[in-house]
Amino acid sequence: MQNITTKLKKLLYLWRRSQVPAKQPIKISRIDNLIIFLVCVLISIISSYKLLLISPLNISDIFSWLLNFTEILFSSGILILVSKKENPKISSRQIFLIITLLLAVQVTKLALASSISPLSIIIPPALIISQGMGSITALAWVSIASFSWPDPADAINNNLFFILLVSSSVVSLLGGRIRSRAQLLQLSIFVPIGSFLSQWIFIGKDRVTFINNQNFDLAKGDIFSDSLILAIVMLFTILFIPIFESIFGLLTKARLLELADKEKPLIRRLSLEAPGTFEHTLLICGLAEEATRMIGGDIDLIKTGALYHDVGKLHAPNWFIENQDGSRNPHDELDDPIKSAEVLQAHVDEGLKFARKNRLPKLIANFIPEHQGTLKMGYFFQKAKEKNLDINEYYFRYKGPIPQSKETAILMLADGCEAALRAMNINASDKEAFETISNIIYSRQKDGQLDDSNLSKGEIFLIKRAFLNVWKRIRHRRIQYPTSKNNTFS
Ligand SMILES: [Fe+2]
Ligand SMILES: [Fe+2]
Repeated sequence: MQNITTKLKKLLYLWRRSQVPAKQPIKISRIDNLIIFLVCVLISIISSYKLLLISPLNISDIFSWLLNFTEILFSSGILILVSKKENPKISSRQIFLIITLLLAVQVTKLALASSISPLSIIIPPALIISQGMGSITALAWVSIASFSWPDPADAINNNLFFILLVSSSVVSLLGGRIRSRAQLLQLSIFVPIGSFLSQWIFIGKDRVTFINNQNFDLAKGDIFSDSLILAIVMLFTILFIPIFESIFGLLTKARLLELADKEKPLIRRLSLEAPGTFEHTLLICGLAEEATRMIGGDIDLIKTGALYHDVGKLHAPNWFIENQDGSRNPHDELDDPIKSAEVLQAHVDEGLKFARKNRLPKLIANFIPEHQGTLKMGYFFQKAKEKNLDINEYYFRYKGPIPQSKETAILMLADGCEAALRAMNINASDKEAFETISNIIYSRQKDGQLDDSNLSKGEIFLIKRAFLNVWKRIRHRRIQYPTSKNNTFS
Protein backbone atom coordinates (compact mmCIF):
# COMPACT_ATOMS: atom_id res chain seq x y z
CA MET A 1 0.00 0.00 0.00
CA GLN A 2 2.83 2.35 0.97
CA ASN A 3 4.53 1.48 -2.30
CA ILE A 4 1.48 2.56 -4.29
CA THR A 5 1.22 5.85 -2.35
CA THR A 6 4.90 6.63 -3.03
CA LYS A 7 4.43 5.87 -6.73
CA LEU A 8 1.33 8.04 -6.87
CA LYS A 9 3.22 10.88 -5.18
CA LYS A 10 6.03 10.50 -7.72
CA LEU A 11 3.53 10.57 -10.60
CA LEU A 12 1.89 13.65 -9.12
CA TYR A 13 5.29 15.32 -8.81
CA LEU A 14 6.18 14.47 -12.43
CA TRP A 15 2.80 15.80 -13.61
CA ARG A 16 3.31 19.08 -11.69
CA ARG A 17 6.82 19.48 -13.13
CA SER A 18 5.60 18.86 -16.66
CA GLN A 19 3.14 21.74 -16.20
CA VAL A 20 5.90 24.21 -15.26
CA PRO A 21 6.84 26.41 -18.23
CA ALA A 22 10.51 26.45 -19.18
CA LYS A 23 10.66 30.15 -18.28
CA GLN A 24 8.22 32.59 -16.76
CA PRO A 25 6.39 34.19 -19.70
CA ILE A 26 6.17 37.96 -19.92
CA LYS A 27 2.71 39.48 -19.54
CA ILE A 28 1.55 41.63 -22.46
CA SER A 29 -0.75 44.55 -21.73
CA ARG A 30 -4.36 44.60 -22.97
CA ILE A 31 -3.73 47.57 -25.27
CA ASP A 32 -0.76 45.83 -26.88
CA ASN A 33 -2.85 42.67 -27.31
CA LEU A 34 -5.61 44.73 -28.93
CA ILE A 35 -3.17 46.44 -31.34
CA ILE A 36 -1.62 43.07 -32.25
CA PHE A 37 -5.10 41.59 -32.85
CA LEU A 38 -6.10 44.54 -35.06
CA VAL A 39 -2.94 44.17 -37.17
CA CYS A 40 -3.74 40.44 -37.56
CA VAL A 41 -7.28 41.36 -38.72
CA LEU A 42 -5.75 43.86 -41.18
CA ILE A 43 -3.41 41.16 -42.53
CA SER A 44 -6.41 38.82 -42.96
CA ILE A 45 -8.41 41.51 -44.79
CA ILE A 46 -5.51 42.40 -47.12
CA SER A 47 -4.85 38.72 -47.81
CA SER A 48 -8.46 37.88 -48.68
CA TYR A 49 -10.35 40.98 -49.89
CA LYS A 50 -9.68 40.27 -53.57
CA LEU A 51 -11.99 37.25 -53.31
CA LEU A 52 -14.87 39.69 -52.74
CA LEU A 53 -14.13 41.70 -55.88
CA ILE A 54 -15.57 39.06 -58.20
CA SER A 55 -18.80 40.03 -59.89
CA PRO A 56 -21.41 38.72 -59.72
CA LEU A 57 -20.74 37.75 -56.11
CA ASN A 58 -22.52 34.63 -54.89
CA ILE A 59 -22.79 32.80 -51.57
CA SER A 60 -19.96 30.37 -52.35
CA ASP A 61 -17.58 33.32 -53.04
CA ILE A 62 -18.50 34.91 -49.71
CA PHE A 63 -18.00 31.57 -48.02
CA SER A 64 -14.58 31.07 -49.60
CA TRP A 65 -13.61 34.66 -48.54
CA LEU A 66 -14.72 33.94 -44.98
CA LEU A 67 -12.75 30.71 -44.99
CA ASN A 68 -9.65 32.48 -46.30
CA PHE A 69 -10.03 35.34 -43.80
CA THR A 70 -10.41 32.96 -40.84
CA GLU A 71 -7.50 30.83 -42.06
CA ILE A 72 -5.08 33.81 -42.14
CA LEU A 73 -6.32 35.13 -38.78
CA PHE A 74 -5.94 31.70 -37.21
CA SER A 75 -2.45 31.24 -38.76
CA SER A 76 -1.36 34.64 -37.40
CA GLY A 77 -2.52 33.53 -33.93
CA ILE A 78 -0.53 30.29 -34.27
CA LEU A 79 2.51 32.30 -35.38
CA ILE A 80 2.30 34.44 -32.22
CA LEU A 81 1.91 31.32 -30.04
CA VAL A 82 4.95 29.69 -31.68
CA SER A 83 7.03 32.83 -31.13
CA LYS A 84 5.94 32.94 -27.46
CA LYS A 85 6.80 29.28 -27.02
CA GLU A 86 10.26 29.73 -28.54
CA ASN A 87 10.89 33.02 -26.70
CA PRO A 88 8.97 33.08 -23.40
CA LYS A 89 10.54 36.48 -22.69
CA ILE A 90 9.30 37.95 -25.99
CA SER A 91 8.06 41.54 -25.66
CA SER A 92 5.01 43.06 -27.33
CA ARG A 93 7.41 45.14 -29.48
CA GLN A 94 8.93 41.95 -30.87
CA ILE A 95 5.54 40.34 -31.58
CA PHE A 96 4.60 43.59 -33.25
CA LEU A 97 7.73 43.29 -35.44
CA ILE A 98 6.80 39.74 -36.55
CA ILE A 99 3.25 40.62 -37.56
CA THR A 100 4.22 44.00 -39.07
CA LEU A 101 6.70 42.19 -41.31
CA LEU A 102 3.88 39.83 -42.31
CA LEU A 103 1.65 42.82 -43.06
CA ALA A 104 4.44 44.50 -45.06
CA VAL A 105 5.00 41.32 -47.08
CA GLN A 106 1.28 40.97 -47.90
CA VAL A 107 1.12 44.63 -49.00
CA THR A 108 4.30 44.20 -51.08
CA LYS A 109 2.79 41.13 -52.73
CA LEU A 110 -0.26 43.18 -53.73
CA ALA A 111 1.80 46.09 -55.03
CA LEU A 112 4.88 44.45 -56.50
CA ALA A 113 4.23 40.72 -56.96
CA SER A 114 4.09 41.20 -60.72
CA SER A 115 7.51 42.86 -60.89
CA ILE A 116 9.60 41.35 -58.06
CA SER A 117 10.44 37.70 -57.46
CA PRO A 118 8.72 36.18 -54.37
CA LEU A 119 12.20 35.17 -53.15
CA SER A 120 13.15 38.85 -52.67
CA ILE A 121 9.87 39.51 -50.83
CA ILE A 122 9.97 36.62 -48.34
CA ILE A 123 13.63 35.71 -47.68
CA PRO A 124 14.90 39.06 -46.20
CA PRO A 125 12.19 39.32 -43.47
CA ALA A 126 12.75 35.61 -42.68
CA LEU A 127 16.42 36.48 -42.07
CA ILE A 128 15.49 39.28 -39.62
CA ILE A 129 13.06 37.03 -37.71
CA SER A 130 15.44 34.08 -37.52
CA GLN A 131 18.22 36.35 -36.24
CA GLY A 132 16.11 38.06 -33.61
CA MET A 133 13.52 35.46 -32.62
CA GLY A 134 14.98 32.09 -33.60
CA SER A 135 14.60 29.51 -36.36
CA ILE A 136 11.25 27.99 -35.34
CA THR A 137 9.46 31.35 -35.30
CA ALA A 138 11.06 32.19 -38.65
CA LEU A 139 9.92 28.85 -40.15
CA ALA A 140 6.34 29.44 -38.91
CA TRP A 141 6.45 32.95 -40.37
CA VAL A 142 7.80 31.65 -43.71
CA SER A 143 5.03 29.05 -43.98
CA ILE A 144 2.29 31.70 -43.64
CA ALA A 145 4.05 34.22 -45.88
CA SER A 146 4.68 31.62 -48.60
CA PHE A 147 1.24 30.00 -48.67
CA SER A 148 -0.89 33.11 -48.56
CA TRP A 149 -1.05 35.17 -51.76
CA PRO A 150 -3.57 38.05 -51.67
CA ASP A 151 -4.02 38.16 -55.43
CA PRO A 152 -4.96 34.78 -56.98
CA ALA A 153 -3.60 36.11 -60.29
CA ASP A 154 -0.08 36.12 -58.79
CA ALA A 155 -0.10 32.37 -58.17
CA ILE A 156 3.46 31.21 -58.65
CA ASN A 157 4.93 28.35 -60.60
CA ASN A 158 5.22 25.10 -58.60
CA ASN A 159 8.97 24.84 -59.13
CA LEU A 160 9.51 28.43 -58.03
CA PHE A 161 7.30 27.81 -54.99
CA PHE A 162 9.45 24.79 -54.09
CA ILE A 163 12.66 26.83 -54.46
CA LEU A 164 11.09 29.62 -52.36
CA LEU A 165 10.20 27.20 -49.57
CA VAL A 166 13.62 25.51 -49.58
CA SER A 167 15.68 28.73 -49.67
CA SER A 168 13.59 30.57 -47.08
CA SER A 169 13.72 27.51 -44.79
CA VAL A 170 17.50 27.34 -45.20
CA VAL A 171 17.76 31.05 -44.32
CA SER A 172 15.47 30.55 -41.30
CA LEU A 173 17.47 27.60 -40.01
CA LEU A 174 20.91 29.11 -40.60
CA GLY A 175 19.83 32.62 -39.51
CA GLY A 176 19.10 31.37 -36.00
CA ARG A 177 22.58 29.89 -35.66
CA ILE A 178 24.74 32.50 -37.34
CA ARG A 179 27.25 33.94 -34.86
CA SER A 180 28.87 36.82 -36.76
CA ARG A 181 28.13 39.55 -39.29
CA ALA A 182 30.70 37.95 -41.64
CA GLN A 183 28.64 34.74 -41.75
CA LEU A 184 25.56 36.84 -42.50
CA LEU A 185 27.37 38.37 -45.47
CA GLN A 186 28.33 34.91 -46.69
CA LEU A 187 24.67 33.88 -46.43
CA SER A 188 23.60 36.90 -48.48
CA ILE A 189 25.95 35.77 -51.25
CA PHE A 190 25.44 32.00 -51.18
CA VAL A 191 21.62 32.02 -50.93
CA PRO A 192 21.16 34.12 -54.11
CA ILE A 193 23.76 31.96 -55.91
CA GLY A 194 21.93 28.81 -54.74
CA SER A 195 18.55 30.19 -55.78
CA PHE A 196 19.99 31.19 -59.17
CA LEU A 197 21.38 27.70 -59.80
CA SER A 198 18.22 25.96 -58.63
CA GLN A 199 16.04 28.21 -60.79
CA TRP A 200 18.41 27.54 -63.70
CA ILE A 201 17.93 23.79 -63.20
CA PHE A 202 14.21 23.67 -62.30
CA ILE A 203 12.75 26.60 -64.23
CA GLY A 204 14.90 26.87 -67.31
CA LYS A 205 18.05 28.27 -68.82
CA ASP A 206 16.01 30.28 -71.34
CA ARG A 207 14.96 32.65 -68.52
CA VAL A 208 18.47 34.17 -68.31
CA THR A 209 18.33 37.19 -70.62
CA PHE A 210 21.54 38.67 -69.17
CA ILE A 211 23.60 35.72 -70.38
CA ASN A 212 21.73 35.06 -73.65
CA ASN A 213 21.15 38.57 -74.97
CA GLN A 214 23.81 40.60 -73.20
CA ASN A 215 20.85 42.70 -72.13
CA PHE A 216 20.57 43.55 -68.45
CA ASP A 217 16.88 43.32 -67.65
CA LEU A 218 15.54 43.71 -64.13
CA ALA A 219 11.98 42.65 -64.98
CA LYS A 220 10.45 39.69 -63.19
CA GLY A 221 11.04 36.40 -64.87
CA ASP A 222 14.72 36.81 -65.51
CA ILE A 223 16.37 34.47 -63.03
CA PHE A 224 19.72 36.25 -63.04
CA SER A 225 18.29 39.68 -62.26
CA ASP A 226 15.89 38.16 -59.71
CA SER A 227 18.82 36.58 -57.88
CA LEU A 228 20.81 39.81 -58.12
CA ILE A 229 17.92 41.77 -56.57
CA LEU A 230 17.67 39.12 -53.85
CA ALA A 231 21.39 39.58 -53.04
CA ILE A 232 21.00 43.38 -52.93
CA VAL A 233 17.88 43.24 -50.71
CA MET A 234 19.61 40.75 -48.36
CA LEU A 235 22.68 42.99 -48.10
CA PHE A 236 20.47 45.97 -47.24
CA THR A 237 18.63 43.85 -44.66
CA ILE A 238 21.95 42.96 -43.01
CA LEU A 239 22.84 46.66 -42.93
CA PHE A 240 19.53 47.42 -41.20
CA ILE A 241 19.62 44.53 -38.68
CA PRO A 242 21.46 46.66 -36.02
CA ILE A 243 18.69 49.26 -36.32
CA PHE A 244 16.04 46.54 -35.80
CA GLU A 245 18.10 45.32 -32.83
CA SER A 246 17.95 48.68 -31.08
CA ILE A 247 14.33 49.59 -32.00
CA PHE A 248 12.78 46.21 -31.16
CA GLY A 249 15.23 45.12 -28.46
CA LEU A 250 16.36 42.08 -30.49
CA LEU A 251 19.32 40.16 -29.20
CA THR A 252 21.04 38.43 -32.09
CA LYS A 253 23.98 36.06 -31.66
CA ALA A 254 26.20 38.54 -33.49
CA ARG A 255 25.19 41.33 -31.07
CA LEU A 256 25.84 39.05 -28.09
CA LEU A 257 29.32 38.21 -29.35
CA GLU A 258 30.06 41.86 -30.05
CA LEU A 259 29.07 42.72 -26.48
CA ALA A 260 31.26 39.90 -25.17
CA ASP A 261 34.32 41.57 -26.71
CA LYS A 262 36.68 42.33 -23.80
CA GLU A 263 37.91 45.43 -25.62
CA LYS A 264 34.50 47.10 -25.12
CA PRO A 265 35.13 50.37 -23.20
CA LEU A 266 33.09 49.33 -20.15
CA ILE A 267 34.89 45.98 -19.82
CA ARG A 268 38.27 47.68 -20.41
CA ARG A 269 37.41 50.10 -17.59
CA LEU A 270 36.51 47.17 -15.35
CA SER A 271 39.87 45.50 -16.02
CA LEU A 272 41.81 48.72 -15.31
CA GLU A 273 39.86 50.22 -12.40
CA ALA A 274 38.63 47.05 -10.70
CA PRO A 275 41.13 44.31 -11.69
CA GLY A 276 39.99 42.01 -8.89
CA THR A 277 36.38 42.20 -10.03
CA PHE A 278 37.54 41.58 -13.61
CA GLU A 279 39.40 38.42 -12.56
CA HIS A 280 36.34 37.30 -10.57
CA THR A 281 34.19 37.96 -13.65
CA LEU A 282 36.42 35.85 -15.90
CA LEU A 283 36.33 32.92 -13.51
CA ILE A 284 32.55 33.19 -13.23
CA CYS A 285 32.30 33.19 -17.04
CA GLY A 286 34.11 29.83 -17.03
CA LEU A 287 31.93 28.33 -14.30
CA ALA A 288 28.67 29.62 -15.79
CA GLU A 289 29.56 28.58 -19.33
CA GLU A 290 30.36 25.00 -18.31
CA ALA A 291 27.15 24.70 -16.24
CA THR A 292 25.00 26.17 -19.03
CA ARG A 293 26.52 23.77 -21.54
CA MET A 294 25.67 20.86 -19.20
CA ILE A 295 21.98 21.80 -18.98
CA GLY A 296 21.67 22.91 -22.62
CA GLY A 297 21.03 26.62 -21.95
CA ASP A 298 22.04 29.70 -23.94
CA ILE A 299 25.85 29.80 -23.65
CA ASP A 300 26.37 33.06 -25.55
CA LEU A 301 23.78 34.81 -23.39
CA ILE A 302 25.30 33.71 -20.09
CA LYS A 303 28.88 34.45 -21.17
CA THR A 304 27.93 38.02 -22.05
CA GLY A 305 25.66 38.43 -19.03
CA ALA A 306 28.43 37.20 -16.71
CA LEU A 307 30.87 39.70 -18.19
CA TYR A 308 28.61 42.63 -17.23
CA HIS A 309 27.09 41.33 -13.97
CA ASP A 310 29.34 43.31 -11.61
CA VAL A 311 30.11 46.43 -13.71
CA GLY A 312 28.32 48.41 -10.99
CA LYS A 313 31.36 47.85 -8.76
CA LEU A 314 33.09 50.50 -10.88
CA HIS A 315 31.31 53.12 -8.77
CA ALA A 316 33.53 52.28 -5.79
CA PRO A 317 35.98 49.44 -6.61
CA ASN A 318 37.89 49.67 -3.33
CA TRP A 319 34.82 48.83 -1.29
CA PHE A 320 34.85 45.28 -2.62
CA ILE A 321 37.27 42.81 -1.13
CA GLU A 322 38.59 41.39 -4.40
CA ASN A 323 39.98 44.87 -5.25
CA GLN A 324 41.59 45.47 -1.87
CA ASP A 325 45.25 44.65 -1.36
CA GLY A 326 44.50 43.33 2.11
CA SER A 327 45.84 46.35 4.01
CA ARG A 328 42.87 48.71 4.12
CA ASN A 329 39.18 48.00 4.21
CA PRO A 330 36.96 51.12 3.97
CA HIS A 331 34.12 49.19 5.61
CA ASP A 332 36.19 48.95 8.84
CA GLU A 333 36.82 52.71 8.78
CA LEU A 334 33.13 53.39 8.12
CA ASP A 335 32.08 51.08 10.96
CA ASP A 336 28.42 51.35 10.00
CA PRO A 337 26.86 48.05 8.82
CA ILE A 338 23.79 49.79 7.37
CA LYS A 339 25.90 52.15 5.23
CA SER A 340 28.08 49.21 4.15
CA ALA A 341 24.96 47.32 3.07
CA GLU A 342 23.94 50.38 1.04
CA VAL A 343 27.32 50.36 -0.73
CA LEU A 344 26.78 46.68 -1.64
CA GLN A 345 23.25 47.38 -2.96
CA ALA A 346 24.69 50.33 -4.94
CA HIS A 347 26.74 47.92 -7.09
CA VAL A 348 23.40 46.64 -8.45
CA ASP A 349 21.76 50.07 -8.83
CA GLU A 350 24.87 51.63 -10.42
CA GLY A 351 25.25 48.55 -12.63
CA LEU A 352 21.75 49.13 -14.02
CA LYS A 353 22.67 52.77 -14.66
CA PHE A 354 25.82 51.66 -16.55
CA ALA A 355 23.64 49.23 -18.52
CA ARG A 356 21.25 52.02 -19.51
CA LYS A 357 24.09 54.40 -20.41
CA ASN A 358 25.80 51.75 -22.54
CA ARG A 359 22.51 50.64 -24.12
CA LEU A 360 22.91 47.03 -22.99
CA PRO A 361 19.98 44.83 -24.12
CA LYS A 362 17.42 44.06 -21.40
CA LEU A 363 18.29 40.34 -21.37
CA ILE A 364 21.88 41.26 -20.44
CA ALA A 365 20.89 43.99 -17.97
CA ASN A 366 18.69 41.42 -16.16
CA PHE A 367 21.84 39.63 -14.98
CA ILE A 368 22.79 42.68 -12.86
CA PRO A 369 19.99 42.61 -10.25
CA GLU A 370 19.11 38.91 -10.63
CA HIS A 371 22.62 37.59 -9.84
CA GLN A 372 22.19 38.99 -6.33
CA GLY A 373 18.46 38.27 -6.10
CA THR A 374 17.25 39.04 -2.59
CA LEU A 375 20.29 37.44 -0.94
CA LYS A 376 21.11 38.41 2.63
CA MET A 377 24.29 40.41 3.25
CA GLY A 378 24.95 38.10 6.18
CA TYR A 379 28.32 39.55 7.21
CA PHE A 380 26.97 43.08 7.78
CA PHE A 381 23.71 41.81 9.28
CA GLN A 382 25.79 39.90 11.80
CA LYS A 383 27.84 43.05 12.52
CA ALA A 384 24.65 45.02 13.09
CA LYS A 385 23.43 42.37 15.49
CA GLU A 386 26.77 42.43 17.33
CA LYS A 387 26.31 46.18 17.77
CA ASN A 388 22.89 45.43 19.25
CA LEU A 389 21.17 47.42 16.55
CA ASP A 390 17.50 46.56 16.51
CA ILE A 391 17.25 46.43 12.76
CA ASN A 392 15.08 44.50 10.35
CA GLU A 393 16.77 41.86 8.17
CA TYR A 394 15.04 43.55 5.19
CA TYR A 395 17.69 46.33 5.18
CA PHE A 396 20.40 43.73 4.71
CA ARG A 397 18.89 42.01 1.71
CA TYR A 398 19.44 42.94 -1.94
CA LYS A 399 16.34 44.41 -3.56
CA GLY A 400 16.04 41.65 -6.17
CA PRO A 401 14.28 40.36 -8.19
CA ILE A 402 15.30 36.73 -7.69
CA PRO A 403 16.57 34.99 -10.87
CA GLN A 404 13.82 34.76 -13.47
CA SER A 405 15.63 32.46 -15.90
CA LYS A 406 17.89 29.43 -15.75
CA GLU A 407 20.81 31.51 -17.01
CA THR A 408 20.59 34.23 -14.34
CA ALA A 409 20.12 31.53 -11.68
CA ILE A 410 23.30 29.75 -12.86
CA LEU A 411 25.14 33.07 -12.64
CA MET A 412 23.94 33.56 -9.06
CA LEU A 413 25.21 30.09 -8.15
CA ALA A 414 28.54 30.62 -9.94
CA ASP A 415 28.90 34.00 -8.16
CA GLY A 416 28.30 32.30 -4.82
CA CYS A 417 30.73 29.43 -5.46
CA GLU A 418 33.55 31.41 -7.08
CA ALA A 419 35.10 32.96 -3.97
CA ALA A 420 34.75 29.75 -1.95
CA LEU A 421 36.36 27.63 -4.68
CA ARG A 422 39.15 30.15 -5.15
CA ALA A 423 39.87 30.17 -1.43
CA MET A 424 39.88 26.38 -1.13
CA ASN A 425 43.04 24.58 -0.11
CA ILE A 426 45.07 23.33 -3.06
CA ASN A 427 45.14 19.85 -1.51
CA ALA A 428 41.39 19.69 -1.02
CA SER A 429 39.79 16.56 -2.44
CA ASP A 430 37.08 16.52 -5.12
CA LYS A 431 34.64 15.37 -2.43
CA GLU A 432 35.39 18.42 -0.28
CA ALA A 433 35.01 20.77 -3.25
CA PHE A 434 31.73 19.11 -4.22
CA GLU A 435 30.46 19.47 -0.66
CA THR A 436 31.36 23.17 -0.58
CA ILE A 437 29.54 23.71 -3.90
CA SER A 438 26.52 21.71 -2.70
CA ASN A 439 26.29 23.67 0.58
CA ILE A 440 26.40 27.06 -1.17
CA ILE A 441 23.79 25.99 -3.74
CA TYR A 442 21.58 24.46 -1.05
CA SER A 443 21.66 27.68 0.99
CA ARG A 444 20.47 29.66 -2.08
CA GLN A 445 17.78 27.06 -2.75
CA LYS A 446 16.58 27.09 0.86
CA ASP A 447 16.46 30.88 0.80
CA GLY A 448 13.97 30.66 -2.12
CA GLN A 449 16.37 32.34 -4.58
CA LEU A 450 15.84 29.67 -7.26
CA ASP A 451 12.02 29.57 -7.01
CA ASP A 452 11.34 31.47 -10.25
CA SER A 453 14.23 30.03 -12.27
CA ASN A 454 12.56 26.71 -13.15
CA LEU A 455 15.79 24.80 -12.60
CA SER A 456 14.94 21.15 -11.98
CA LYS A 457 16.65 18.98 -9.36
CA GLY A 458 18.50 17.12 -12.12
CA GLU A 459 19.73 20.38 -13.63
CA ILE A 460 20.97 21.60 -10.23
CA PHE A 461 22.94 18.36 -9.88
CA LEU A 462 24.46 18.88 -13.35
CA ILE A 463 25.39 22.45 -12.39
CA LYS A 464 27.22 21.16 -9.29
CA ARG A 465 29.14 18.63 -11.45
CA ALA A 466 30.02 21.38 -13.93
CA PHE A 467 31.38 23.66 -11.18
CA LEU A 468 33.44 20.77 -9.84
CA ASN A 469 34.89 20.11 -13.31
CA VAL A 470 35.91 23.76 -13.65
CA TRP A 471 37.45 23.74 -10.17
CA LYS A 472 39.51 20.67 -11.08
CA ARG A 473 40.80 22.55 -14.13
CA ILE A 474 41.70 25.74 -12.27
CA ARG A 475 43.06 24.43 -9.01
CA HIS A 476 46.64 24.39 -10.27
CA ARG A 477 46.63 27.92 -11.62
CA ARG A 478 44.33 29.77 -9.25
CA ILE A 479 45.28 32.96 -7.44
CA GLN A 480 44.27 33.35 -3.85
CA TYR A 481 42.84 36.55 -2.45
CA PRO A 482 41.44 37.16 1.00
CA THR A 483 37.78 36.34 1.28
CA SER A 484 35.30 36.69 4.07
CA LYS A 485 34.06 33.50 5.68
CA ASN A 486 30.51 33.90 4.57
CA ASN A 487 31.22 35.44 1.19
CA THR A 488 29.40 38.69 1.90
CA PHE A 489 31.60 40.92 -0.21
CA SER A 490 30.72 39.41 -3.58
FE1 LIG B 1 27.55 41.18 -7.54
FE1 LIG C 1 29.97 38.83 -8.88
